[in-house]
Amino acid sequence: MLGDTSFAIHPGKEKKDGAVIYRDIGDLIDFNKEGMTYNFLCSNGNVAVQFYTESIVRVTMNPKKNPVLNQSKAVIVNPQSVAVKEEDTERKLSLKSSEITIHIQKSPFRIMISDSNGRVIVSEDKHGMAYRENGEVIAFKQMYDQDHFYGFGEKSGHLNKRGEKLEMWNTDVYAPHNPETNALYESIPYFMTLRNGKAHGIFFDNTFRTFFDMKSSEENYSFSAEGGQLDYYVMAGPHPKMVLEQYTYLTGRMPLPPKWSLGYHQSRYSYETEAEVRELANNFIEKDIPIDVIHLDIHYMNGYRVFTFDKERFPNPEKLIADLKEMGIRVVPIVDPGVKKDSEYPIYQEGVLEDNFCKYIEGDIYYGDVWPGSSAFPDFTEEKVRKWWGDKHAFYTDLGIEGIWNDMNEPAVFNETKTMDVDVMHRNDGNPTTHRELHNVYGLLMGKATYEGMKENLNGKRPFLLTRAGYAGVQRYGSVWTGDNRSFWEHLQMSLPMVMNLGLSGVAFTGPDVGGFAHDTNAELLTRWTQVGAFTPFFRNHSAIGFRYQEPWQFGEKYEAIMKKYIQMRYEWMPQLYSLFYQASKQGLPVMRPLLMEYPDDVKTYNLNDQFMLGDNIIMAPILQPSVTDRVVYLPDGEWVEYTTGQSFEGNHVHLVHAELEDLPIFVRKGSVLMQGEWNSNQQKETKKLTMKVFASEKEETYRFTFYDDNGETFDYDNGEYVKLELEVHSTGETVNIQVTKEGNFLPAYHEIKIEVVGAEKSVFVNGNVSSVINLLN
Ligand code: NOJ
Repeated sequence: MLGDTSFAIHPGKEKKDGAVIYRDIGDLIDFNKEGMTYNFLCSNGNVAVQFYTESIVRVTMNPKKNPVLNQSKAVIVNPQSVAVKEEDTERKLSLKSSEITIHIQKSPFRIMISDSNGRVIVSEDKHGMAYRENGEVIAFKQMYDQDHFYGFGEKSGHLNKRGEKLEMWNTDVYAPHNPETNALYESIPYFMTLRNGKAHGIFFDNTFRTFFDMKSSEENYSFSAEGGQLDYYVMAGPHPKMVLEQYTYLTGRMPLPPKWSLGYHQSRYSYETEAEVRELANNFIEKDIPIDVIHLDIHYMNGYRVFTFDKERFPNPEKLIADLKEMGIRVVPIVDPGVKKDSEYPIYQEGVLEDNFCKYIEGDIYYGDVWPGSSAFPDFTEEKVRKWWGDKHAFYTDLGIEGIWNDMNEPAVFNETKTMDVDVMHRNDGNPTTHRELHNVYGLLMGKATYEGMKENLNGKRPFLLTRAGYAGVQRYGSVWTGDNRSFWEHLQMSLPMVMNLGLSGVAFTGPDVGGFAHDTNAELLTRWTQVGAFTPFFRNHSAIGFRYQEPWQFGEKYEAIMKKYIQMRYEWMPQLYSLFYQASKQGLPVMRPLLMEYPDDVKTYNLNDQFMLGDNIIMAPILQPSVTDRVVYLPDGEWVEYTTGQSFEGNHVHLVHAELEDLPIFVRKGSVLMQGEWNSNQQKETKKLTMKVFASEKEETYRFTFYDDNGETFDYDNGEYVKLELEVHSTGETVNIQVTKEGNFLPAYHEIKIEVVGAEKSVFVNGNVSSVINLLN
């Protein structure tokens, strides 16, 4: 193609068409208050303002009519009743809650939002809300020199997105995933701005193709959509953690996943036969390499028909699944949305006869090519269809399956546009509209159908869902892997900011294909990637057809031993991880965090791409380059200790650390704690012994941690079947005083938690008494 050569920059191609002209919202003509909603009539459009809470406000602009306020696929709450103080003068109107004030300039209509101290959060200046006749809507906001931008869901490139123009359009991109591939599989039109240590968030709830431009001007940034309303929420923060709590208050939080899904997953496109899967499982058992899940990619199906097994390749799936479960391994099969056009295939028959597939307005079913050939696509925008699809999952649960992998749900189609025709009409629960409007939520709604169907069929057990596509709120249904990456060091490097920004976008349970999906991995890359994967929220090794197999033993004993050590560490650290997952499910905070989340006043953390935190007290500094055994690590304020060597490091400093291939530099903040179990075997994964390591601090320190545990499998926690400890650990030079407040009725197999002080001899007190254990029996 000529576009792939220097022709792309031919001088004759320079655009001369000048700036795009937008129509400004104009002047305020009139306003009223209806219930909790302020309606503004402006000369060129209508605006509604609603306080959702004291610190969250929603602004909706519709160029043509009164804003429609009840169509969100992402937001799951209604506005609370907030006491708002109004002040109306000739030129200005202000609306004030206890946390924020909305300042409205009347002519032209401009909005500025400040906090209760008068600090500007977001402000429009000479540009405000605007639109074009082609349906495009846009908001301009002032950009400050100190603004840094994060979130935006799944994006390539660095952590801070200032200087970038980003696009949201769920896209199946097999290659190249480089810094300029910015429309990937997930669209989360949400970001957090960090300015001088204070953060706020903006969620642009528009499901059309959207753009975020922090590149074209140094004075303002904009967000825009190809159609629909300008509908956005401002979350006032001011701490990054508060912004996430506010955003996930709106869009929901991850239900606590089954504990087994936090373990190690092994996948391949594809393990093609029952014999191959059994051999794989046996290898893990014999080598004592921990594993919880084997994924079945598309070859398990009969001609790629979803809800079937190929009888020749997998003659007895029920027995296979039961046998593997005995070995401590669960099977997660892939389920794509495309249903093969085959009039003798029951799912297709039902779909057509019950009118469940996406159609053109004229009534013809839309067909697109995917793995099974010509296929129809369920219209997940319709409740009836979601229920039908969800119920079908009894096929899997009857076989003993508890987790599903949703792929190709952008939806991906093998054609020029890579997806469904945008003029296909969705029924959308009685509000018919085009695929152009609902494309970005197709995967979210498939996830909803799948999660809810699995939950219904699992009789009280927690389902696990892995999904490739999604929209804001996807965390309510599934974990997300980052699609078809490649076995390049650059992709290992890129996965860190990508997963951290997903975490900042409300999706805590994420990870890339460890080892890389496409291309041949190599021993060193796989080893280093496994070290990182052991501490990313989702931990799955997956590789593509036609490339080298990459199970942990494929490169010889030396590498196998290192990978095994780190996979085992994942299991030793499970009690800590599970507590962090609990925190994510309650507050929406990520498990894997950029340092800026804990140190928002430290500018050195603002674009730190090659380190990450696990919770609030552990910093991982992996090696991300070939043949490298030394790296620079930045440690923020505090005293730190390296986990393996016990060496002390001062915070607020850059250090050079050495890490041989078997080493992953891990830094723990002194005075903080780490909950650790032990690795037993694949058949016996339950924690029997639990230790709380307190990392000795020479200085006086107080550290708080919420420890959580339950049976890991059911929803019995809703009935009090859990154990939660609020721990306050106070360290002095000679003593460690631990205050424990216990909640819940669950008694784990370990009846007590052993306390170990690492790095010094200290007297330990629990609730005021000398003790080396926390007893859970009383
Ligand atoms: C694309 C997915 O991203 C990949 O993980 C999977 O292996 C292939 N589809 C085949 O199902």
